[in-house]
Amino acid sequence: MSDPLESVRADVAAALDTLLPRQSALAQPMIDAMRHAVLGGGKRMRPLLTCAACEAFSGSYAVALSPACAFEFIHAYSLIHDDLPAMDDDDLRHGQAATHIAFGEANAILAGDSLHSLAFQAVAEAPDISNEAKLRSIGLLSKAAGWPGMAGGQCLDIAAEGRQLSLIELEALHGAKTGALIESALMVGAYCAEVEPTDSRLALLQQFGAKIGLAFQVVDDILDVTASSATLGKPAGSDEALDKNTFPKLMGLDAAQAYADDLLEAALALLDQADLATERLSHLAHKSVRRSF
Ligand code: IPE
Ligand code: IPE
Ligand code: MG
Ligand code: MG
Ligand code: MG
Repeated sequence: MSDPLESVRADVAAALDTLLPRQSALAQPMIDAMRHAVLGGGKRMRPLLTCAACEAFSGSYAVALSPACAFEFIHAYSLIHDDLPAMDDDDLRHGQAATHIAFGEANAILAGDSLHSLAFQAVAEAPDISNEAKLRSIGLLSKAAGWPGMAGGQCLDIAAEGRQLSLIELEALHGAKTGALIESALMVGAYCAEVEPTDSRLALLQQFGAKIGLAFQVVDDILDVTASSATLGKPAGSDEALDKNTFPKLMGLDAAQAYADDLLEAALALLDQADLATERLSHLAHKSVRRSF
C-alpha cells in the first residue's frame, strides 16, 4: 500500500532543514547539536498531524509547514533534555548517540534552549498565515510546551519515579507530557487553515488529539517493554530501570494494549463525527497506536 504521507514527510524534512541554522561564528557546536537532534531521525508525528489537520480543514498543508516544524523543534528539545543524566540518563536516540553524548551536556542543554526559541520564531515568521492565526498558535504552543503541558508532565514524571500513581494521575501525566503537544499540533493545523474559532469541529478535533496523544504515550510505554533497543533506536527497558509510572506497569501489557486500542476507536469516532476523517488524519491516528517503534 502506498504511504499517503510520503510527500508531506518529504516537505516537512525540507522545511526542517531550511529553518535550522547552519553556521554561526558564535555558537557552532550548539548549532551542530541542534541539527543532530532534529535531523538525526524521528517519525515526525507532530508536524505530520499539523499538516494533515490543516488539510482536513480545507487548507493547503504548505501554509502549515513552518508551524508544523515548530512542533518538531519543541519535541526534539524535549527529547534532548529527557535523555540528559539529570532526567532519564539515556545514551541512545534515533539509533545514534544522544545529543549530550555526541556534543557534551552543556551544548545539549543549550541546543534544547535554542530549539525552544526557534519554535516560536518559526510560528511568528511563518509565511502565508494571518497574524490572528499566528497569535492563537503561539498561545497554544506555549501552553502545550510549558508548565501545564510537556514541561509540567516531565516534572511529575521525574517526581513520581519509585512511587505508584493512580490511573487518573497517570492519565494526567501522559496527557501533559505527551498529549498536550500532539493535541495542539492538530489545533494549530486547523488555525493555519484560518478556521473560525467558533467552528464546532475544533472541540471534536481537540478531543481526538487528547485521545491520540494519550494512546501514543501508552504505546511508547508498551514498546519500552516489548521491543528491542535496535528497533526503537533508544534504550529499551529504560522505564523499568528508572521505576517509572507506565501503563503496562499499572495494568499489565494486555490491558494496556486494549486501553490504547479503545482510545484509537474513540478517537476515530470523534473524527467521523467532525467529518474530518481524511485519509491522512485517519492514517496518522492508526500509526499512533499500531506501530513497532
Ligand atoms: C518519543 O516520541 C517520546 C514521546 C513523547 C512518547 P516519538 O516516538 O514521537 O519520537 P520520535 O521523534 O519519533 O523518535
Ligand atoms: C518522554 O517520555 C516524553 C517527553 C516529553 C520527551 P519518555 O521518557 O518515555 O520518552 P522516550 O521513551 O525516552 O522517548
Ligand atoms: Mg522521560
Ligand atoms: Mg525517556
Ligand atoms: Mg518512553
